[in-house]
Parts: sequence; structure tokens; C-alpha cells
Amino acid sequence: MRLRVTSPGLLALPWERPLGEWDATAVPLRDIPVGPSRHLVRFVETDGRLWALKELPHRVAHKEYAVLRDLESMGLPAVRPAGLVLHRRDGRAGAGREVPDGEGNAILVTHYLEGSWQYRRLFMRLPNRPRHRARLFDAMAGLLVDLHRNGVFWGDCSLANTLFSRDGQLLQAWLVDAETSDVHPSLTDGQRRHDLDILVENVAGGMLDLAVRLEQPPEMHGALLDEAAGVAERYTALWDTLYDTPEMPFSDRLQIEGRIRALHELGFAVDEVRLEPAGTEDRLRLHVAVAERRYHAEELAALAGVEVGEGQARILIGDLRAYQGLLQQQSGREVHDGVAARRWRTDLFEPGMDRAHAAVGRAGAPVQAYCDLLEVRWLLSEQAGRDIGDEEALAALSLRFVPFDAAASMAVAERATGELPRLSPDVLERMDRVEGEAGP
Ligand SMILES: Nc1ncnc2c1ncn2[C@@H]1O[C@H](COP(=O)(O)OP(=O)(O)OP(=O)(O)O)[C@@H](O)[C@H]1O
Ligand SMILES: [Mg+2]
Repeated sequence: MRLRVTSPGLLALPWERPLGEWDATAVPLRDIPVGPSRHLVRFVETDGRLWALKELPHRVAHKEYAVLRDLESMGLPAVRPAGLVLHRRDGRAGAGREVPDGEGNAILVTHYLEGSWQYRRLFMRLPNRPRHRARLFDAMAGLLVDLHRNGVFWGDCSLANTLFSRDGQLLQAWLVDAETSDVHPSLTDGQRRHDLDILVENVAGGMLDLAVRLEQPPEMHGALLDEAAGVAERYTALWDTLYDTPEMPFSDRLQIEGRIRALHELGFAVDEVRLEPAGTEDRLRLHVAVAERRYHAEELAALAGVEVGEGQARILIGDLRAYQGLLQQQSGREVHDGVAARRWRTDLFEPGMDRAHAAVGRAGAPVQAYCDLLEVRWLLSEQAGRDIGDEEALAALSLRFVPFDAAASMAVAERATGELPRLSPDVLERMDRVEGEAGP
């Protein structure tokens, strides 16, 4: 047994028994619906935290644990490993036959990914809009690009092996299943293409499976398959933006600037710009070394000491800058960044976050609720042709009176983790029914 987290409640669990035999009346199991999965996955709450436990054969478990640790050390978006428990016997403790090393089952423990959703939940609860699907596929393409940039071959990228969390108007995708993954110093184009083919095939399968479950007409299937194929295009577009090395005339500064701006827009900070001679005398080749996708997140952290996701930071910086403009207008003087950031935090951000979170019934993250408020206010003001103000926007948010395509409408899939019921067969059945009925 190897646990990296020494929370007393976690240590006290009946690790010697197969996961399937854990007794829901004695162990604090939590009912969380999971996607299609081969292995048994159960969730436990101890010492105020949630853990995901997955039972799988020794060898695979070792490998997955090692890969997840690598991903964690590279700061990649994946579930975080917390421990690995190996069973030496093939049945109940003491009763079963002792198994040789490398055989038998293991339980892989990961930190439950707070605020994340399974794609099924997302699709079943959301209005069935291409805009929402586009967000989800952008997130998947972005995740695969992140992994590939760091030499990680996923091997089984699918909707069921990805979790999604909200990040401003975007979604962030997380790798949840690394059984088939390998970490290399870097990947060849062939490896990347292979991984991408797997993704397209799996996503197409996942979409069709869902369409059937939701009883969508077969005419829709072709469009869904096209959308799945579109993930590869999103991936390639992003990859090319990061790694293209265009040739340009010596004097073309604008193109360099344009390239850097485009990267910043996508959230990527630029580490280094290199210009190298390209064939003819007056032409150069532009190489850009791109850092992680945290451009706005780092700017906001430096300015205001607020640590959030890249998509959220982008929205918040816009809010901060607009407030800075207003303060300058009111005072007739320049207001420095530091002063503006402090005022923005205390005047707008902190109280606004609390009110927005209350308006959505305290579901999801407070900072996301504030981003939703800003989005709803902006969209409804645009519709109304005037600034509708915070009160109206808060009311719209709490009544879920939100434009269908708005990212804020994704809040319907959110549920506070505190509300997760204890596991029992009828809870399970009831939830399945409710999820099925809530389809688009
Ligand atoms: N740390 C976690 N936080 C939140 N949810 C999790 C976590 N780990 C697993 N899950 C949920 O459990 C589901 C199944 O997990 P996983 O994909 O790792 O196992 P599996 O499906 O049995 O493996 P395989 O894909 O080989 O069949 C995931 O889709 C996800 O919904
Ligand atoms: Mg899986």
C-alpha cells in the first residue's frame, strides 16, 4: 500500500477488501454517476475530501499511477494520483489464494476532480446547441495539444475518459484515464496523428452512443460524425498556430506582432521569438517558443493576486481594465495598475462574486458565477440596447433566464458537491431516471 495522502479517514478504509465488497453502510461512499467504464470506480468522502477509487490489475495500475505522477509534475490537466493499494490475495483478506507479484488487483486512488463533469451530464442537461458542443470539442483538442507538446501519447482519448470543468466562457478538459498512456521526450508526427485518429473514432462513437440514448433521429447522426471529425481540425489549427515557422521579408514587423497577439489571444504566453535567415537574403523565418496557456492568468495574478483559470482570467482582466478606465474618467487623472487592481477587487470583484454565487444557489465556483454575471449582463444589455445593470443581470442569472448559447447557461449542469447523496440502489436508479428525462 502506498498512499501519498495521509488523511486519517483515508487510511482507515477497508483497503484489504476488494472494492466491490465495500459496505456502503460502513464506508462513506458517495454516489456520483460515472461514464461508461470497464473497471469498478467508486467515490469516498473522508476528512472533508472526495476521492476516486478505481480497481484494476496490478500491472496496469502501476503504469497508470506512474503516468499520472508524470503528468502532475509537468502541471498538465489530469486527475491527480493520491495512492496505489496492491492486493496480494485474490479474494477476501486472508481467505483467498496468495497471488504472485504483478498479478491480482490494485486500487488506484485519485483526488476527486472538484467541479468537473462527465460529458453525458453536460449533454443531457444542456440545451442541445452546436455552440456548447463547439466549446467541448475545443477543450478536447486543446487538451490533446497540451499533452502532445509535452510528449504524452494518450492512446485512449475519448469523451468518457475526459472530464470537463468551466473556465470563464470556455471549458477546460482533464485527462481522467491514463491506462494506455506513455510519456516520451517528444512525439513524432506519426504518433500525434495516431493519437488524433483514436480521438476522432472514439468521439464519434461517444456521440452516436449518446444520440441513441437520447433518442435523437438517425438523420442527426451524420452531422454528429462530422462534428467528431472537426475535433481533428481544431487540433491541427491550434498546433499550427503554435508551431508554424512562417517566412517573411526582413522588414515585416507587423507579421511578428500579429503572430504574438494571436498567441496571447489564445492564452499562450511567448517565451522567445527567434528570427533566422531563410534562403534568400532579405527573408527571415520566424520561430516562436510558446509557454503554457496561462497568459491572462499570470497577468491577473501579478496585477491583483487573484489565481483563476485562463478563461476566467481573460474575462476578469477585461472587467478590471474597464473599471480602471471608469476610475480615470471620474478622477480626471491616470490611475495606476496597482491602485486600479486593489479598487477593483474590493469594489467590484469580491462583493460581485458573492452576490453572483448566491444568485446561482451557491452551485459551482464563486469566481465562475461572477464570470457568468458579467457575460449575462453583457449579452442582455446588447439585446436591450442599454446597460441593464447588475440587479437585472443577477435576477436573470438566478431565474436561469439566460440566452441559450451563453456559456452561463452551462451552469445548469452544476451541483454543489455537498449535495451528493450517500450511495444506495434507489438513489442510483432515481438519478439515472432524472438524468435521462432532463435531455434536450
Ligand atoms: N479523480 C476523479 N474525479 C472525478 N471523476 C473521476 C475520477 N476518476 C474517475 N472518475 C470517473 O470515473 C469514470 C471512469 O474512470 P476511468 O476512465 O479512469 O476508468 P475506466 O473507464 O474503467 O477505464 P477504461 O477507460 O479503461 O474502461 C470517469 O469517466 C469519471 O467519470
Ligand atoms: Mg475510462
